[in-house]
Amino acid sequence: MTNRRIIFFVNQKGGSGKSTLAFNVAIAISKNQNYKVALIDTDPQCSLYSIMEKREENNIKSNLYFATSFLNTLSAELKKCNDMDYIIVDTQGSASGDIIQTCKNLNAKVIVPMLPNFLDIEATNPLLEILIENHIEFKVLLNGIHHSGTNQVKFLKESLKEDNINTFDNYLIFRSIYKKPFFEGLSVVEIEDNVPVEFNNFMTETINWK
Ligand SMILES: Nc1ncnc2c1ncn2[C@@H]1O[C@H](COP(=O)(O)OP(=O)(O)OP(=O)(O)O)[C@@H](O)[C@H]1O
Ligand SMILES: [Mg+2]
Repeated sequence: MTNRRIIFFVNQKGGSGKSTLAFNVAIAISKNQNYKVALIDTDPQCSLYSIMEKREENNIKSNLYFATSFLNTLSAELKKCNDMDYIIVDTQGSASGDIIQTCKNLNAKVIVPMLPNFLDIEATNPLLEILIENHIEFKVLLNGIHHSGTNQVKFLKESLKEDNINTFDNYLIFRSIYKKPFFEGLSVVEIEDNVPVEFNNFMTETINWK
């Protein structure tokens, strides 16, 4: 078995960007020939399945292993992924005990995408507490930030830091290209020559998160 890394995208708040980011991260890593990547959809909504279907319809090649799985059959699914370097897992909008326990059992890292508004922050807080209680390694990724939201990000990061919560240094801006997976099956690294700089920087942080 390689030194594989398992990264879960978790947030009970719907629409925070879990599926969008799981997909974009998996495709971005798969562009590096040195890494073998698996992308697993455990959400009964099957967002990633729909995106992968769009890719097939549009003849977009994917250099990764994709599967859907129930959470309770994930361990069996992962036996097929022993030679993978990265396993990226999307979860449904829930902070269920099952998701937390699975992250713990698999020694997974957790990325918590969070939108910068009061309701999303309130809804995400209980999850952050559960992750801390369970000693799960996690980082919050601020997502959907307005172009002029630098001060807002600074304020949010400082208040999370006061609660000993780690955030990614980089945050993702609200951009229409992040909506393309659902319409065209395309990741941001496949759309433009100029991939958003904040996405590239976030990816560097993710790869260096060991
Ligand atoms: N940075 C961004 N800029 C613009 N749109 C975004 C961004 N991130 C996510 N979105 C859009 O927000 C919507 C919700 O994203 P997504 O489906 O990935 O959330 P989710 O957390 O997986 O939701 P659910 O809990 O329902 O599974 C989608 O339409 C997606 O395209
Ligand atoms: Mg989703």
